[in-house]
Amino acid sequence: MAKDRVVLAYSGGLDTSVAIGWIGEQTGAEVVTVAVDVGQGGEDLEVIRQRALDCGAVESYVADARDEFAEEYCMLDLQANGLYMDAYPLVSALSRPVIVKHLVTAARQFGGSVVAHGCTGKGNDQVRFENGITALGPDLKCLSPVRDLALTREFAISYAEKHDLPIETTKSNPFSIDQNVWGRAIETGYLEDLWNAPTKDVYSYTDDPAYPPLPDEVHIVFDKGIPVKIDGKDVTPLQAIEEMNRRAGAQGIGRIDIVEDRMVGIKSREIYEAPGAMALMAAHKELERVTMDREQARFKQRVSLRWSELVYEGQWFSPLKRSLDAFILDTQEYVSGEIRMTLHGGRAEVTGRRSDTSLYDFNLATYDAGDTFDQSHARGFIELTGLTSKLAAARDMKFGKGEAMPKLNLSQGD
Ligand code: ARG
Repeated sequence: MAKDRVVLAYSGGLDTSVAIGWIGEQTGAEVVTVAVDVGQGGEDLEVIRQRALDCGAVESYVADARDEFAEEYCMLDLQANGLYMDAYPLVSALSRPVIVKHLVTAARQFGGSVVAHGCTGKGNDQVRFENGITALGPDLKCLSPVRDLALTREFAISYAEKHDLPIETTKSNPFSIDQNVWGRAIETGYLEDLWNAPTKDVYSYTDDPAYPPLPDEVHIVFDKGIPVKIDGKDVTPLQAIEEMNRRAGAQGIGRIDIVEDRMVGIKSREIYEAPGAMALMAAHKELERVTMDREQARFKQRVSLRWSELVYEGQWFSPLKRSLDAFILDTQEYVSGEIRMTLHGGRAEVTGRRSDTSLYDFNLATYDAGDTFDQSHARGFIELTGLTSKLAAARDMKFGKGEAMPKLNLSQGD
């Protein structure tokens, strides 16, 4: 009888390299690895592919998903202005579903019945992987070697040395880092003391905003909420993010230091840097202010809040998230035009906007000649919008609760 196969999300690092052999020993299954490039940089996919085979994988699947990630995941976050807890542009949360897609594809291709990942039992990522996997493949089972098969860091080091695995065991980073083209997440180590300020070595996508180079002016053209041109040059979503990472990163834009509510109930300290994401979002938000109907924009803020929570909580493939996507995409119909922005010293400041689909009407807005706004309508408008409060205030007065009346100090002294 053919052996069962486990499909393992593989980073090429120590823990997942050891997991290949360890899963085999513990479950008797063959291991197929899957490495996905979401713009995390680092080693070549071919090097990672070969390492997996050298560590005992029977098949090693690699995918360059950078464009797919930028187009189908990061752009939706941009169109949503999706920030968890009003701050975090969902960097890691966005990358898990695209990795999941490739894991499930590989499971189908190579006949895997179990999908494994290298997450601990304490974070959000385990939830994102497993919810995603079962949403795309309800018949698949999930396995976390760290959580379920006691694969600790110390054990991984000794296992790798004992089996002479082609992976470095000495390099130790004090932080747990997850990065992709949308940004970088840094946690653990001395950052776990909330009073400790991040030191310089924490950052790599951004330079110190306190010592910026000269201001950098950038023109970004959007089409339906997607950046399509930067400084006159056509760009793909991936190129737009990369270009803005470079330029906003040089100005120290997009550093975020927050205490965050994790899904498992704990609060944790997180540092992020997302220069491109935050600069693009600043531009996109301003273009929405120019082009979006007021009521649609107000409602979209609420949708965006819920959408961000769903994405954070591993519900990317859920029915509600899909319905909210449809709303968000519908709102982008007229979010087209150009934004001029100055990047400097940690700030991305919009200085100009123009759009053929703008709702700004100069003749209605101007206080100069050419004003077409009929001010006589304002009287009745105010009369009616103030009516309910006026009626309530009159009742208050009747019952001696004259909140509406300022309390006059009439005491004359005795
Ligand atoms: N707390 C962030 C999130 O849940 C970042 C997770 C980063 N993952 C990591 N292994 N360092 O989205």
